[in-house]
Amino acid sequence: MNHGFLWCPHCGHPHELRVRFCPATGVALDRAMNKTALKGHPLLGRVVEGRYRVSELIGHGGKGFVFGAEDLRTKSHVAIKVVVEPTATESILRLEREATLIAALRHPHICSLLDVGWLAGVGPYLVMERLFGATLAQSIRDSGQLPIDLALHLMMQVLSALDAAHSMNVVHRDIKPSNIFVTGHDGMPPIAKVLDFGYARKTDGFMSRLTTPGLRVGTRRYLAPEVRLGGEGTDRSDIFACGMVLFEMLTGKLPFRGTTVVQTERAVVQGDRRWLLGDRPDAPAALGWAVHNALSPKVDHRMSARELHGELRRIAAALRPGLVLVTDDESPSSVRRSPGRGSWVSREELGGEEPSSSSGRG
Ligand SMILES: Nc1ncnc2c1ncn2[C@@H]1O[C@H](COP(=O)(O)OP(=O)(O)O)[C@@H](O)[C@H]1O
Ligand SMILES: [Mg+2]
Repeated sequence: MNHGFLWCPHCGHPHELRVRFCPATGVALDRAMNKTALKGHPLLGRVVEGRYRVSELIGHGGKGFVFGAEDLRTKSHVAIKVVVEPTATESILRLEREATLIAALRHPHICSLLDVGWLAGVGPYLVMERLFGATLAQSIRDSGQLPIDLALHLMMQVLSALDAAHSMNVVHRDIKPSNIFVTGHDGMPPIAKVLDFGYARKTDGFMSRLTTPGLRVGTRRYLAPEVRLGGEGTDRSDIFACGMVLFEMLTGKLPFRGTTVVQTERAVVQGDRRWLLGDRPDAPAALGWAVHNALSPKVDHRMSARELHGELRRIAAALRPGLVLVTDDESPSSVRRSPGRGSWVSREELGGEEPSSSSGRG
C-alpha cells in the first residue's frame, strides 16, 4: 500500500494519497497537478547546509512536516522535521523544545536526534534517524488487528521508552498510533520507536510552559479523562493513552463508544470502557485486566509504565511458556542481541534463569 503524500494545491497542505477530495475545501484532487504542487515547499529538492539532500515528504502531523533526505557526508538516510507554520512563535519554540528533550532522552525506543539547525523561511529543523516501516496507525489500518504477542511486544517497547521519559520527569502527552513507528529488519522482531515529543512537558518545572494552564494539548481521542477535564496530565495520562493504543492494536477499535461525541466523552470520564475480551475473545483475561487498569478514570489506580511493562511481560511469558521475551538491558550477555531489540529466547538459553520482573500492580 502506498503511504505517500501529495501536496494539495487547494488548501496548501499535504494529504495522504488515498484522500480523493481536499478535506478543507472539498475540491477533488488532481494527482498530476499535485505532483507539480509538491515542489511547493522550500525544502524539497534542496541541499541543506551543503549536507542533507531533501527528496520527499514522508509524513506530517498537526505540527510538523517530515522529509526524507540523504546525508551526503555519511551517505545515509535521515529524516528532517520542520514546523508547518514557520511564522508562529509557539510552533518554533515547540520544535526547539522537542529537540532538547529527545537529545536528553536517548533511548533505543525513542527516535534519535542527529543534528539541529535553522533556515530562513523554514525555521528550526531537526535531523533524525530515518525510520523505515510504518506507523502503528498505518499497521492497524492495514491489518485490522495485530496478533496478541506482537501487540504485547510493541507496547512493552513503548512502555520502556516512557519509563525512561517519566523517570526524567518528562510526560509525552501525545501517545497515539501515528506517533509510534514500527520498524525493523526482515525476519527480526519488529522495533517500536516513539516519535513526536512536540507536546511533551517537564513536570519538575525545569522548562518553561508553552501552553496556557488548563488548555488541552494532545489528540482528543487518546486524552485521559483528567486532561479532558482541564488537568495538566501526568505520567499516568500517558498510561491511559497506552491503554487506548493497546485496545486499538488488539481490536482495531476504541474502548469508549458512544453514539454521539458527548456520550463518548461521558463514557471516558465515567470509566465506562468496553471489556477487551468482548472484542478480542482470544486475549488472556490478565491482558483484559491490564488494559482495564490503564483505562481507569482514577489516575492513582493506573499502573506506572514500569509496572505495566512488568505485567505485560508476565502475560507474554504465559502465552509462550517455553519462551521468554528479553530486551537488551535485561538479558544475560550470552543471549544479548543488538541494542534495544526484544527477542524471544528459550528458557534453556537463559540458563533456566527467570528474568527479573519489575514490581507488580500498584
Ligand atoms: N524519523 C522518522 N522516519 C520516518 N518517518 C517519520 C519520522 N518521524 C516522523 N515520521 C513520519 O512523520 C509523521 C509526523 O511526524 P511527527 O513527529 O509525529 O509530526 P507532528 O508533530 O506533526 O505530529 C509521523 O506520523 C511519521 O509518519
Ligand atoms: Mg505526530
